Amino acid sequence: MRLIERPEEMRAWVMDRHGRGVTVGLVPTMGALHEGHLSLMRAAVQENGTAVASIFVNPTQFGPDEDYERYPRAFEADCQKAEAEGIAAIYAPDARTMYPLEHSTYVEEEALSRGLCGRSRPGHFRGVTTVVAKLFNAVLPTRAYFGQKDAQQCAVIRRMARDLDFGVEIIELPIVREADGLALSSRNQYLSPEERQEALGIHRGLRAAEALLKEGARDAATVVQAVKDEMGGLRIDYVELLDAHTLEPLATARGTVLLAVAAWAGGTRLIDNLKTQVI
Ligand code: PAF
Repeated sequence: MRLIERPEEMRAWVMDRHGRGVTVGLVPTMGALHEGHLSLMRAAVQENGTAVASIFVNPTQFGPDEDYERYPRAFEADCQKAEAEGIAAIYAPDARTMYPLEHSTYVEEEALSRGLCGRSRPGHFRGVTTVVAKLFNAVLPTRAYFGQKDAQQCAVIRRMARDLDFGVEIIELPIVREADGLALSSRNQYLSPEERQEALGIHRGLRAAEALLKEGARDAATVVQAVKDEMGGLRIDYVELLDAHTLEPLATARGTVLLAVAAWAGGTRLIDNLKTQVI
């Protein structure tokens, strides 16, 4: 497996593959890889002639009071895991390479990024779209793989890729969970045993709402309340029922809906969601 740290080297490596008609899958990550990331890598390896993973903890998507400094970093172990999945190259620029001195250009999506996490984390999606645009420019992927746990991120990136003609196919793959339902996240490492127990309320809430929807409930307030009822000691940021494509809040569940949750377990902000078809 190749380790590449500069965009021009990355592009040369990938242009050589494209020149030979090889398709390229990209899995963008911030490292601290878990089974969720590895499921994306497996798909990227399977569905493309070659696959690249990027590892970069992106400072521009963290707010000033957020966890950029303490975000888990495990570069050596991450490389071993990626190699075991068949990733051919890791793209891991340092922060100064990604953001040269006097960097002053950003990419901003102005509709889908406004609500949910965009409301609670001002500037977050601007950082995400900027870094993902830069990753697309360096890696020139045919397809890029993202997890549904960050459903809003997927929607924003898909919109950006379309609006800016990246010509990259955006693939969203299902949430990977622990046996007890906790959605995998690099931030789960921050949780104390008690907080982890509390965090399970999110999954219980989503399951309760899913059952209600299956039984025919359509009133968004009822469905949202069913989630909140299970969330005990967690501090809720938002629980919202939205149209999964437009991310517009719904009063009545219809079509493909996204039930999105963000909550704090102690000092750790967790997100999770359920996407389902309602007839
Ligand atoms: O989902 C993530 O890990 C990050 O937001 C991403 C897409 C790698 C951009 O930094």
